[in-house]
Amino acid sequence: MSKPVTKLCVLISGNGSNLQAIIDEIKAQRLNATIAGVISNRPNAFGLERAKEAGIEAVCLDHMNYDDRESYDAALKEQIDAFEADCVVLAGFMRILTPEFVNSFSGKLVNIHPSLLPKYKGLNTHQRAIDNGDEEHGVSVHFVTPELDGGPVIIQSRVPVFEDDTASDLAERVQEQERRIYPLVLSWFSEGRLMMRNNKAVLDDQELPESGYASD
Ligand code: GAR
Repeated sequence: MSKPVTKLCVLISGNGSNLQAIIDEIKAQRLNATIAGVISNRPNAFGLERAKEAGIEAVCLDHMNYDDRESYDAALKEQIDAFEADCVVLAGFMRILTPEFVNSFSGKLVNIHPSLLPKYKGLNTHQRAIDNGDEEHGVSVHFVTPELDGGPVIIQSRVPVFEDDTASDLAERVQEQERRIYPLVLSWFSEGRLMMRNNKAVLDDQELPESGYASD
């Protein structure tokens, strides 16, 4: 019997370029997975259009309609469960998640963060790298744990920072790498090669170092 195809649920808040990269890799048959559904917390997220265009069920759960984080996360969990997702993919989902939510998807919840973690957790990472005079910057994909942007890193990709870079120049350079590494991580997950064990990312039964798999 062939292995069932991994079902992804992708959470977005905006443009959805990472979502598009995942859609494209599945279409090109380089990623053996299916996107069961896309959820946005913002009604005007362009990623919702990208999902519809690809024939994927797209749902908006507007956080403005909920009284608090707990009730929002409970609704979010219910929707993800309805999609029967094997893996929850945070792709520019700009909300802090409750520990209850995170723990309920432990080992199945991944995030992409635009910095070389543990550097620059939180927001405005590109500007912070420039302001700090960093010569290199990058992106991390990690398992999500209750500590914000603190879960074990799976992979990082580095880019140079040039003297006259603006934050948007740097964001563009980083996002090119994002579109390369996120589908790669999901392919490892869908092949059963990647897991979280004892708060470490494990690939092919080997614990990955703190900076994750070296992609460059
Ligand atoms: C990406 O650059 C991603 O790394 C970042 O948001 C962008 C979403 O782009 N995520 C975070 O900052 C999470 N803290 P996209 O909507 O085009 O995929």
